[in-house]
Amino acid sequence: MRLRDKVAVVTGGGSGIGRATCLLFAEEGARVVVADRDAGAARDTVARIAAAGGAPAMAITVDVAREAEVAALGEACRARVGRADVLVNDAGVRVWGPVTEASEDDWNLIVGVNLRGVGLCCKHIIPLMAEGGGGSVVNVSSANGVVGRSGMALYDATKAGVLGLTRSMACDHRDQGIRVNAVLPGPTLTDFHVRRAAAAGRTLDEAVTRPHAGGPGILRRHALPREIAFGILFLASDESSYVTGACLHVDGGLSALAQRN
Ligand SMILES: NC(=O)c1ccc[n+]([C@@H]2O[C@H](COP(=O)([O-])OP(=O)(O)OC[C@H]3O[C@@H](n4cnc5c(N)ncnc54)[C@H](O)[C@@H]3O)[C@@H](O)[C@H]2O)c1
Repeated sequence: MRLRDKVAVVTGGGSGIGRATCLLFAEEGARVVVADRDAGAARDTVARIAAAGGAPAMAITVDVAREAEVAALGEACRARVGRADVLVNDAGVRVWGPVTEASEDDWNLIVGVNLRGVGLCCKHIIPLMAEGGGGSVVNVSSANGVVGRSGMALYDATKAGVLGLTRSMACDHRDQGIRVNAVLPGPTLTDFHVRRAAAAGRTLDEAVTRPHAGGPGILRRHALPREIAFGILFLASDESSYVTGACLHVDGGLSALAQRN
């Protein structure tokens, strides 16, 4: 019960890594606020927590790119649960292609959600956290925030930006008792990837989470969402009390391999 009696706000909690994080946090005793722009998906996560016997969770619909909605999220946390001990900034979107093909709308979308959204959620949750004596912010970046590749320059830039935000926010909020860290997941088998592969006529199933020739990283496989959630749990809990401004690579060695080369 590493999060007993803590309140944890998880953005993007309606799917993938965010949902796995909500379920794991609830198992560890947290009251989870599932914040997602997809209301049905957030409610589904809450129902799964209830079915698993977790503490009562709450679904809140929010677009993290819109400050008015994020402010309402902060107000709802204050009014309905009265505190926030953990904030996980997991909500994210992808845009593909090189900058030569990116539109202004592409830039606005990806920076709005992946970078500004992280800052806005911190802006409206940190005061509540500070009132309770402190807490832990975990930002979900990506292994590709530090490893280059072709095809996702905008996304990778936002994920690198999240690392800068993490380090400097750790300095800004130390005196409020707030630690700020980042998790850098490698390729993870989430519904998103399954659906995308299906749309391209391919199958992506649990086989990719077992080592295979040509698989990613040192471990040569994808992660299960729950494997990423365990890294997030460590940074959210008091077990990481001496960790702040840090980047935790949960990527099967993908970034270590890239640095070796
Ligand atoms: N899956 C991977 O391989 C992988 C690898 C590295 C990093 N990540 C990062 O992990 C995070 C989760 O990825 P995932 O694969 O689980 O994604 P996903 O697409 O399965 O889930 C993302 C969730 O965020 C929500 N969301 C999107 N935009 C939002 C917005 N504006 N406001 C509120 N909610 C919004 C979606 O509704 C969805 O429920 C993302 O930040 C992603 O960039 C994922």
